[in-house]
Amino acid sequence: MTSPLENTVQVAAGDSRYDILIQPGLLATPAAWAGLPKSAQAVIVSNPTIAPLYEAALRRALAPHHAQISTVLLPDGEVHKDWVTLNLIFDHLLAHGCDRKTVLYALGGGVIGDMTGFAAASFMRGVPFVQVPTTLLAQVDSSVGGKTAINHPRGKNMIGAFYQPARVVCDLATLATLPPRELSAGLAEVIKYGPIADMAFLDWIEAQLPALMARDPAALAHAVRRSCEIKAHVVGQDERESGLRAILNFGHTFGHAIEAGLGYGQWLHGEAVGCGMVMAASLSAELGGVDAAFAQRLHRIIAAAGLPTQAPHMPAEQWLALMRLDKKASAGEIRFVVIDRPGSAAVRPAPDALVAQVIQRHSLPA
Ligand code: NAD
Ligand code: GLY
Repeated sequence: MTSPLENTVQVAAGDSRYDILIQPGLLATPAAWAGLPKSAQAVIVSNPTIAPLYEAALRRALAPHHAQISTVLLPDGEVHKDWVTLNLIFDHLLAHGCDRKTVLYALGGGVIGDMTGFAAASFMRGVPFVQVPTTLLAQVDSSVGGKTAINHPRGKNMIGAFYQPARVVCDLATLATLPPRELSAGLAEVIKYGPIADMAFLDWIEAQLPALMARDPAALAHAVRRSCEIKAHVVGQDERESGLRAILNFGHTFGHAIEAGLGYGQWLHGEAVGCGMVMAASLSAELGGVDAAFAQRLHRIIAAAGLPTQAPHMPAEQWLALMRLDKKASAGEIRFVVIDRPGSAAVRPAPDALVAQVIQRHSLPA
């Protein structure tokens, strides 16, 4: 069903069709919750940081649609995106007699969204779920496109499934309570869409960064909408990442190595992606896709968004070993998303020596 709400982006991925609703106040807008899969039971998955802020409003929104609504709270943080925490969702679903029709609602950031999605993909071989993203990062990226996963100590998002939500409800008003560091982390994923797909959007982001950082509602609404449009377009062409979708991982090969190398939760995912994009842009310039001025410009924008641009020190061998675990690696060869011309990205291998040079240039000294 197509939503009657104004600011809606449609996703068509494989056999799935769903809407991303983008507006302030959607938690209190009945039309945002109409027409979802019907079930007696609904389960809200959230955490102790988010639930006190938004669980009551979500329960009110869902009350006309489900006779029983229960909540499972997971411990907060990337460090808990693992099997043990995932199992808390299954324990709850089984303890509450949930069935194949039970709808899960992921109320939170990307960690809650990725874990709820994975639980929905696997509980009784698949139950419906709805993304209710409350971080900028989740609204512009993780809630859209159906990638769900948990981490393994040796690699980020290593265990998961492609499983699309029934709807994504982005209530922009929830961004008001987001800590500034989390807002910057979300901006990293917004910035990402410029160099890989839309240079006019990068120009807009650069001009609007002060408004975005001040949480100007119109600026945030445009950033979320344009990001979702680009992501929906990419996912619509390549749901399972057989090719094109990999461009959405610009900066992530370096970024995931930072996250796993330091231990999950030390750097925020968006911070690692921001710094990773500085490194990937530098590598792109070395490989000739863009000039040094392009890489420097991206570096400036990422720094202005309040993101770190110097990686922590790690020995080159550790970087390379971590990056060989990246899902884009093939037969031990690391492959990077690089900008092959402004506004366009491609996946390329790069010589270890060149990668080591880029790492050294953009890392803190030992
Ligand atoms: P997060 O889920 O850890 O949320 C960040 C912090 O903000 C948490 O402490 C959370 O409790 C808190 N929070 C959330 N909403 C809030 C609000 N409105 N007000 C106050 N506090 C709030 O982090 P994230 O940046 O949202 O997501 C990062 C995760 O997303 C990573 O695990 C990453 O791998 C994943 N990710 C997945 C995809 C995908 O396609 N599935 C894409 C990008 C990132
Ligand atoms: N965030 C990368 C993807 O969804 O493919």
